[in-house]
Amino acid sequence: MIAKNRLRGLEQIGALTVSEGLIKEAQAAAARQTSEYAPGERAALISQIKSLLQKQNAVLVAHYYTSPDLQQLAEETGGHVADSLEMARFGNEHPATTLVVAGVRFMGETAKILNPEKRVLMPDNQATCSLDLECPVDVFSEFCDAHPDHTVVVYANTSADVKARADWVVTSGIALPIVKHLAKQKKKIIWAPDKHLGSYVQNITGVDMLIWPGSCVVHEKFKAKGIEGLKDQYPHAAVLVHPESPAEVIEIADVVGSTTALIQACRNLTAKEFIVATEPGIFYKMKQAAPDKIFLEAPTGGVSATCESCMRCPWMGMNGLRNLARTLETGKDEIVVEEAVRKKALIPLQRMMDFAREHNIGMKVKGNA
Ligand code: 13P
Ligand code: SF4
Repeated sequence: MIAKNRLRGLEQIGALTVSEGLIKEAQAAAARQTSEYAPGERAALISQIKSLLQKQNAVLVAHYYTSPDLQQLAEETGGHVADSLEMARFGNEHPATTLVVAGVRFMGETAKILNPEKRVLMPDNQATCSLDLECPVDVFSEFCDAHPDHTVVVYANTSADVKARADWVVTSGIALPIVKHLAKQKKKIIWAPDKHLGSYVQNITGVDMLIWPGSCVVHEKFKAKGIEGLKDQYPHAAVLVHPESPAEVIEIADVVGSTTALIQACRNLTAKEFIVATEPGIFYKMKQAAPDKIFLEAPTGGVSATCESCMRCPWMGMNGLRNLARTLETGKDEIVVEEAVRKKALIPLQRMMDFAREHNIGMKVKGNA
């Protein structure tokens, strides 16, 4: 836990929780993407997108949380479906001159930071992430300035500006090895913005860490009690948990890991049933990885008035066939990162990419397109 007197500006930070209004806005935008297709519309959009990708020398990189339609399109067009680390690696190595990133804004920005010469498009560049929103650069930067003896480690789910203030960027797939590496050097760390992932990493590494109080609106809602209730019905089910979940949920997990690690677990574990505490978009790939197994959504706090975002990431939902076709046609949702910021943000990001390569971390899920 953070000692309050050491976290200058904590009062302000406490007020930064993402409002229900913002979540509702994202849900409304997501609903516009999924509202019923007119007869023939879906097939027409898919064929239009395929042809535009080809004409524009563009490749589609989709996160596991996007809709099955987008994941399938990425697979069918020589693109890729992946976690945030692998999305960055794939975009960086692919020869296409346009990267179309279906995911949330930090993923598009990461692609642009690593590939300034490429055009980066998103279906909707306003698709953000609660972790990014809860870590505004001015407050964060002031906090870092107050602790100059700390190494600044930020999660990839942050803005380009926040990355530009960091020494290291990490994703959930590489956070542990990087922090272990820093622990060996006896570094003290500022960790931002996900408090649950931060505590998880701190518990394992024992590193001296100041943890920013951000959280993911989706994972934060999973409850140990609900999962245990489901376990009573499926006693042989393995519990798979993304480390953005609260500690009580992590404690009862059979596997804790990045989206890729959770998909790999479905294939590798002998269990036939899985209770999955992460965004259910991942079921598309889990079913591909283990078609004969059963996947159950881990219960959240309940679909009540106080749980606006239960389970589904409202911002991932903003990616659809309609706005994917539109961005390819108009280039409207291009990602732009100011060059001075990009150059600074590239340093910690490249550090992560180099570390991943040197330690062979973030390889593709076997059988992935
Ligand atoms: P991964 O890096 O595991 O894909 O996670 C990204 C994310 O946003 C999880 O909520
Ligand atoms: Fe951000 Fe959570 Fe959505 Fe991932 S699932 S993009 S952490 S809000």
